[in-house]
Amino acid sequence: MKRTKIADLLKTKDFGKQVNVKGWVRTKRESKNVAFIALNDGSVIHNIQIVVDFTNIDKKDTININTGAAISVDGKLIESKGSGQNIEIIAEKIEILGEADPEKYPLQPKKHSLEFLREIAHLRFRTNTFGAITRVRHAMIFAVHKFFNDRGFYNIHTPIITGSDAEGAGEMFRVSVLDPINPPLTKDKKVDYTKDFFGKETNLTVSGQLEAELAALALTEVYTFGPTFRAENSNTSRHLAEFWMIEPEVAFADINDDMDLAEDMLKYLVKYALENCSDDLSFLSKRLLDEEKNKKQDERQMELIEKLNFVLENKFERITYTEAINILKNSKPNKKKKFQYLIEDWGADLQSEHERFLVEKHFKKPVIITNYPKGIKAFYMKQNDDGKTVRAMDVLFPQIGEIIGGSQREEVYDKLLNRMKELNIPEKELWWYLETRKFGTVTHSGFGLGFERLMLFITGMGNIRDVIPFPRAPQNAEF
Ligand code: 4AD
Ligand code: MG
Repeated sequence: MKRTKIADLLKTKDFGKQVNVKGWVRTKRESKNVAFIALNDGSVIHNIQIVVDFTNIDKKDTININTGAAISVDGKLIESKGSGQNIEIIAEKIEILGEADPEKYPLQPKKHSLEFLREIAHLRFRTNTFGAITRVRHAMIFAVHKFFNDRGFYNIHTPIITGSDAEGAGEMFRVSVLDPINPPLTKDKKVDYTKDFFGKETNLTVSGQLEAELAALALTEVYTFGPTFRAENSNTSRHLAEFWMIEPEVAFADINDDMDLAEDMLKYLVKYALENCSDDLSFLSKRLLDEEKNKKQDERQMELIEKLNFVLENKFERITYTEAINILKNSKPNKKKKFQYLIEDWGADLQSEHERFLVEKHFKKPVIITNYPKGIKAFYMKQNDDGKTVRAMDVLFPQIGEIIGGSQREEVYDKLLNRMKELNIPEKELWWYLETRKFGTVTHSGFGLGFERLMLFITGMGNIRDVIPFPRAPQNAEF
């Protein structure tokens, strides 16, 4: 018999129908004459209940059906009286496909800590929490592509191995095939990368932006959605060494168009999740409520669904960096020295504690900050006439802080070249990028949305290592 997914079975009311299901056992409860098996195949958060009547099925054959085992069940759909579902299966034939030794299987039917589950990431997909996160993650990937496709954007694949540092922050992983113990050396005793695979120094990309700009200056509206890599030693709940980034780039668009696009996209994605992931979100909401029980009232987050709706309903506040600094300087936590990094002077970089203060305490809605000091932003950003600020825009979210970073780009050749010189960015590495400013240069803008930061927000999870299947972080590349 052909297998039916549990997601599909739970939607039907075909009582009496013969079906086959396959999945992994979550629990088995047993009495003298009957056993109840909760079976899950990951197609949906809910389990289907299998009723095993020992007058039909030999009890001996069910002894090795333990939590974690994979089984195949042929049986009849019947109306459920008590399992919390409409439907259950009365088993006629059960086959054990793969046993799981109950003494050794690490996932017992009880609550495990997220830290423990990170150590068994090869099995954590089988928990309700990670099943839900994985399905929501898929829905969000799909929604990103749908959002852009519906608006006529073209997806482009930007390179993963590059010779340039798009953000100019020097936080790159080198890609090399040279012998690490005995590399070829130049006359002045430096590693000779001309002998390396690509004939030059290369690294994993930190961003697809520079190449996306090239495409936007021909196709007008493009986006990339790929993995990016940063060797920054930030061991926080919001940083990964390997994360996925969505980067739209639009010709003929200025910073205001850029902010509109960012706000539209975030609202679209939140709405998509609410409309398409309701079962998983209600589970994640309950999980969060449970976790927050132990926190003090004023430290608790808003309920998940409420928080998502809250983003949909509010226009994001748009302020300049200078306005933000003034608010922060005069804020209670700054005056009472509660911030870890006190705000003293204009020019200071904003830390996530400051970003969260603005969003959660001051404005109580998402905030977009524009016109940052040029000294704390990347070389490619459009310089304002004041000579001090650039047309950057960061979108800040509750619990997360920065979720999007973007800008209008400097499209004037001389200004871009001068800024690169000031920052010692070698012209010969980026000659191709500069050249687009010589031929048909136009105003253009874009941004990067950190996909896992979005996932943190949508799922209400507290640690970024729990919203990507196999996190890469300092001292951590297992699986
Ligand atoms: O602000 P960032 O560094 O901007 C760029 O890379 C630009 N090239 C984007 C563009 O304009 N096309 O990174 C963009 C976003 C951040 O706002 C954050 O959400 C996420 O990427 N991000 C990280 N997410 C997880 N772990 C890290 N280490 C991250 N660094 C940045
Ligand atoms: Mg940034």
